[in-house]
Amino acid sequence: MAGITEIIIQALWLMLPAYIANPAAVVFGGGAPVDFGKNWIDGKRILGDGKTFRGLIGGTACGVIIGIIQMLYSPSGFPGEFTLLAVFSLSFGALLGDMVKSFFKRRIGYERGEKLPFIDQLDFVAGAWIVTYLLEPEWFLENFTFWIIIVIIVLTPALHRITNIIGYYMKLKKEPW
Ligand code: CTP
Ligand code: MG
Repeated sequence: MAGITEIIIQALWLMLPAYIANPAAVVFGGGAPVDFGKNWIDGKRILGDGKTFRGLIGGTACGVIIGIIQMLYSPSGFPGEFTLLAVFSLSFGALLGDMVKSFFKRRIGYERGEKLPFIDQLDFVAGAWIVTYLLEPEWFLENFTFWIIIVIIVLTPALHRITNIIGYYMKLKKEPW
């Protein structure tokens, strides 16, 4: 088994497109919401004003750009010889997971921006993994091995927290979570 440091570096490398897509959505967000301001049958917003087309597209684009740079500069043999499809599915999947989370948050009566510990931090990881597994199953299973997955689940909430605190002080986020 590879050393823990190596596993951590591999995990961060593999997740980088998703890790970039998520905060990039905050930077690019604004404008028309994905649910077009419409309500669900329960009278509450389908997704809410926190999920916008600009965020979705800008976030996906940034994740894909990072992934392409990783494809070009990957040290040979280093994990995650990304495919373009994997890069896309990690980025887009991250934001899709975040939107699915918002859908369920609205259903249980949570307002936009109201915090849901752990779920807010791992929604995009789950989305990235599920979409990548569906679109690029062999690549996913080859790269996201058991220990890589464990490391990502453990490290992501801490990384997410740090990113959001930075975003909060940069006045990009309304709340530090
Ligand atoms: N954002 C966006 N489009 C997305 C995702 C995020 O525009 N697809 C922007 C919004 O400005 C959003 C901010 O990034 O307010 C923070 O994202 P997030 O924490 O996911 O949304 P919340 O506002 O907390 O909404 P929710 O309660 O639905 O999670
Ligand atoms: Mg939030």
